[in-house]
Amino acid sequence: MKHLSVQHLLGIKYLNLQDIDLLFETANHFKEVINRPIKKVPSLRDITIANLFFENSTRTKLSFELAEKRLSADVINFSASQSSVKKGETLIDTVNNILSMKVDIVVMRHPNVGAGVFLSKHIDAKIINAGDGAHEHPTQALLDSYSIKENLGSVKGKKVVIVGDILHSRVALSNIYALQLQGAKVMVCGPTTLIPKHITSLGVLVETNLKKALQWCDVANVLRVQHERMDINYFPSIREYTQLFGINRELLDSLGKEIVIMHPGPINRGVEITSDVADSKQSIILNQVENGVAIRMAVIYLLAQQIKPNS
Ligand code: CP
Repeated sequence: MKHLSVQHLLGIKYLNLQDIDLLFETANHFKEVINRPIKKVPSLRDITIANLFFENSTRTKLSFELAEKRLSADVINFSASQSSVKKGETLIDTVNNILSMKVDIVVMRHPNVGAGVFLSKHIDAKIINAGDGAHEHPTQALLDSYSIKENLGSVKGKKVVIVGDILHSRVALSNIYALQLQGAKVMVCGPTTLIPKHITSLGVLVETNLKKALQWCDVANVLRVQHERMDINYFPSIREYTQLFGINRELLDSLGKEIVIMHPGPINRGVEITSDVADSKQSIILNQVENGVAIRMAVIYLLAQQIKPNS
């Protein structure tokens, strides 16, 4: 039985290529399982998982919960907005109270960078980072790479452009790490104000002309403008952003080749991508969502094997 090299999934930065291969092999198996008439396996019947969401989520929260239930784990859900966090309870106190209910794995989304790493040093449970501020979103990057591999046969050698608000995006950083580890070439494209100054030190290309970026790439992963993380205006208006960095049918048709369109969601339809593109055959957005369940099953299953050495 092969094992992950890490004890927690805190970021793609901590994984190696063998980990990604193992996660994808395991996800292939679970993808087959979730397409059977009976979509459930008894693998984690004695494991309890707490989903702690200190920030809003639709896809990630539902996808983790479904993955856990498909593996027959016991699941408890926590949402900060309805909790005693509002009464001033600290993160450690909140989590220790949950752990005293004998939880084995914690899935956490938190607005603060490094919240998962912090927790992993203070509590005795497996931690899965479901997004920490503008830092990492490792399961999103895994499902994105898995979807590229499924669609194009491999990630190695492919050219991927990440378009939009790179500065505030945990999806961008995790994707850069994951794609480069697998041998893809990565470019970022967006307004200069939304591209971190030192991004080239990560070995990525930078392009501010969207058409040139799309002509270069095999895959465009389009990001949402994250207004909730902006305390100042980074561009003059949404209209101008859309004119310069929005993906539309006319632009794609002018490329003279077909590229794969991805988006992690939630989508601002008509801002970073038009509906006809998001819903087109070129778009694999809903495949990404489907693959998210299989990838998260793989992550949870492989970490749980470290708790259950005899299984
Ligand atoms: N892609 C993603 O993380 O979406 P949610 O914020 O809805 O979980």
